Amino acid sequence: MRKKETISSLQSAKKSRKLTMITAYDALFASLFATEVDMILVGDSLNMSFGGRPDTLSATLEQMIYHTEAVCNGAPETFVVCDMPFGSTNTKEEALANAVEVFRRTRADAVKIEGGAKRADLVAHLVDNGIAVMGHVGLLPQSVRSEGGYRVKGRDEESFRTVLEDAAAIERAGAFALVIEGVTPELAAMVTEEASVPVIGIGAGAQTDGQVLVWSDMLGFFEEFKPKFVKRYMDGAALVKEAVKRFTEDVREGRFPAEEHCYK
Ligand code: KIV
Repeated sequence: MRKKETISSLQSAKKSRKLTMITAYDALFASLFATEVDMILVGDSLNMSFGGRPDTLSATLEQMIYHTEAVCNGAPETFVVCDMPFGSTNTKEEALANAVEVFRRTRADAVKIEGGAKRADLVAHLVDNGIAVMGHVGLLPQSVRSEGGYRVKGRDEESFRTVLEDAAAIERAGAFALVIEGVTPELAAMVTEEASVPVIGIGAGAQTDGQVLVWSDMLGFFEEFKPKFVKRYMDGAALVKEAVKRFTEDVREGRFPAEEHCYK
């Protein structure tokens, strides 16, 4: 059994070992991932990969709590982070009340909040009130509609500087770690170098303190589209389809159930 990570063990990993995080939305998959990864993220990406919706924006706090509780049940010895969904952190007061609700109703160890310098006060307010916060800077999926798409940051001077400032502000506000998404490797490397907390990348090159991937992307269950930054570690969709095909053929041709599947 792996020893459960803590904020201090995660922070002391910076510069000594690479951190791994994977998303999970249910107890079963969380239990399968728990033996290997340092952290599990209950990402609002569940709205897409679990809910079949086009983006993360309609995920609700209730859904995040339900799935976080399931993940904590499946992986009680793993550090679990719950994503705060779009619209649940509009003001300091609302953000604190909603994060407290997450902590009351689940055993999550931390929450993740998307956004840069403009959200620094809000992050500080949560940290001051005993909520561990993981920041999320760079490409912000919750801004997909306001930005008119998913835009990689750091290709121009302005976005390069903005993300550097965002990361510094969120660290100063007390975040124990940062996710950096959808940025050039050079920008991610500079953020990682300047931050004293662990920086976990997704679509951000190899120079970060760790990596996170969405489980259905990395296990090849999501067939429609493979983002450039995803490495598929298995062809989940093909395996499932093949197994279901064999089941239906077995039933139709009388091979299942066989004697060993019947009660005596
Ligand atoms: O919601 C999510 O899965 C995330 C990761 C992409 C970091 O925020």
